[in-house]
Amino acid sequence: MGLKKIIVALDNMKREDAEVFLTKLQKQSLDEMPMVKIGLEMFLKHGPSLVTEIHEKYNTPIFLDLKLHDIPNTVHKAILSLEGLPIKFLTIHLSGGVKMIEKAIEAQKLALPHTDLLGVSFLTSLGAEDFNQIWDIGTDGISAAFERLINLALETNLAGVVSSVNEVELIKELESRSSKSLIKVTPGIRFEDEIKEGQLGDQKRVASPSEALKNGSNFLVIGRSLTQTTSLDKRMDQLRQL
Ligand code: C5P
Repeated sequence: MGLKKIIVALDNMKREDAEVFLTKLQKQSLDEMPMVKIGLEMFLKHGPSLVTEIHEKYNTPIFLDLKLHDIPNTVHKAILSLEGLPIKFLTIHLSGGVKMIEKAIEAQKLALPHTDLLGVSFLTSLGAEDFNQIWDIGTDGISAAFERLINLALETNLAGVVSSVNEVELIKELESRSSKSLIKVTPGIRFEDEIKEGQLGDQKRVASPSEALKNGSNFLVIGRSLTQTTSLDKRMDQLRQL
């Protein structure tokens, strides 16, 4: 498969550390750099120039994970203000509602014609207790709400969604009901040996890269398993052989 479906998440990294890591990654990638995910922390600290610099210096597509969520007009203008940045994927919250999603898409078409907008359903940090506390809903309610959010993405013709591997099956079912398709991007990836040894970090529901691809994920977001490994060469070889 090569590394085209891999997205490396640079979470909470100091700029110097990110540079050291990306230089190593570039060496190990043998001219086929995976996509790089920049989160809110690094974007707020270093600003839009970081996106351009990483894109140009390491010749890599950029996933800007801002998870935008505000009134439609504000999200519209926020996306317009990213005009010209080399962004491959940009995230918004689906729970902003249909008008927000539509205004986001409208702005993306104007300012970022080469970008795919991805919708985030629920934060993985939310547990059953949070759903109960905030919306007074239980497990059935959560999955019904998840379905409604994915349907919003389908109805508005959003390019894709971010979800855990466990949810991909349901997303595929909703896709086939609507005869539309979404780019399915999944974090929560751990290598098989890490799963066997129980090295899951704070990820609760994980899948290996090959399981995730078999399930129908189109892109795999991998953070610490790559940024904190002492054998990046071995990990990149494993990914290249998928
Ligand atoms: O766990 P890992 O370091 O591979 O995380 C990669 C990405 O997965 C993070 O950038 C974040 O977007 C997402 N993540 C998540 N749930 C967690 C931890 C991370 O969705 N509990």
